[in-house]
Amino acid sequence: MDITLTRPDDWHLHLRDGAQMAAVLPFTARRFARAVVMPNLDPPLTTVAAVRAYRERILAALPAGMRFEPLMTLYLTDTTAPDEIRRARADGCIVGAKLYPAGATTHSAAGVRDIGRVLPALAAMEEVGLPLQVHAEATDPEVDVFDRERAFIERVLAPLHERFPALPLVLEHVTTREGVAFVRGAGGRVGATITAHHLLLNRNALFAGGLRPHHHCLPVLKRETHRRALLEAAVSGDPRFFLGTDSAPHPRGAKESGCGCAGIFTAHAALELYAEAFESVGALERLEAFAAFHGADFYGLARNTGTVTLAREGWTVPEDYPFGDARVVALRAGATVAWRLLAVEADPA
Ligand code: DOR
Ligand code: ZN
Repeated sequence: MDITLTRPDDWHLHLRDGAQMAAVLPFTARRFARAVVMPNLDPPLTTVAAVRAYRERILAALPAGMRFEPLMTLYLTDTTAPDEIRRARADGCIVGAKLYPAGATTHSAAGVRDIGRVLPALAAMEEVGLPLQVHAEATDPEVDVFDRERAFIERVLAPLHERFPALPLVLEHVTTREGVAFVRGAGGRVGATITAHHLLLNRNALFAGGLRPHHHCLPVLKRETHRRALLEAAVSGDPRFFLGTDSAPHPRGAKESGCGCAGIFTAHAALELYAEAFESVGALERLEAFAAFHGADFYGLARNTGTVTLAREGWTVPEDYPFGDARVVALRAGATVAWRLLAVEADPA
């Protein structure tokens, strides 16, 4: 069996930089026409000039003949000036600004410490209509790690949405039923990305027969009831939910460590993994809208016109892939993915 879809977009992606980026970029650029590229490099991309320079490096690393458009994001800090927001809006390639609570995740140390200090930047974003992409996790050490998303929504995100009702908001990589409920209940332009790994795995995958560092990501995997809520939202046809892989490659040694870092690499089979998740509930016919229409509509961008074709044909994921001078272990390494990418027709030039 084959399925052909409009060529999709990835609305949340980590590409890294340099030789690591060059190693992982082709996986995404082959499947997806566009991707929203996260700004959490080291140092983070806190200025429009730095974002533009990164975009040029991505385009330069693109293999000849591949048609792919990186959609860029600005990294918000306590000191982001409203003028920088206006510059970002005026720049055609920047589609949003990313709010990382300081200390929440990889390269977030320069993120937002005090939400009160970003209010001028958020007001400017609301004024110019620049979407806010939120890593929605409370960093208060008193909060249980599995409750961080819910706590952040209650303490920060819901009040923020009330204060700036016209600010377009994306709850990135939503992982809980409370997150889904927040999006559904919010008025205005509020959406959420959903990863393939949160659709396919629950938190048991972290401890299956022993500690599984390659299943560690942030927000961390949740219990089965949450996975089911995400899957239900993804296949519901609700346009507020769209594909965002959060594919986040790390060198093997940084994951298999006494303090393994967070991030699951899924770009090698991103669309194929979503197909598995949708198929598991008999909803393959809903995949196209989730993967190719909802995100573009949310961001006010044209839908793609090319196509991708997947075949229901299992293949074995390699034990690891080259990643600069290291290796990266992908989701399902050494095991089977049920769908294979068969053909891609890029949009006509
Ligand atoms: O698992 C994650 N990895 N979550 C994030 O928020 C960041 C990402 C990364 O950059 O590695
Ligand atoms: Zn991410």
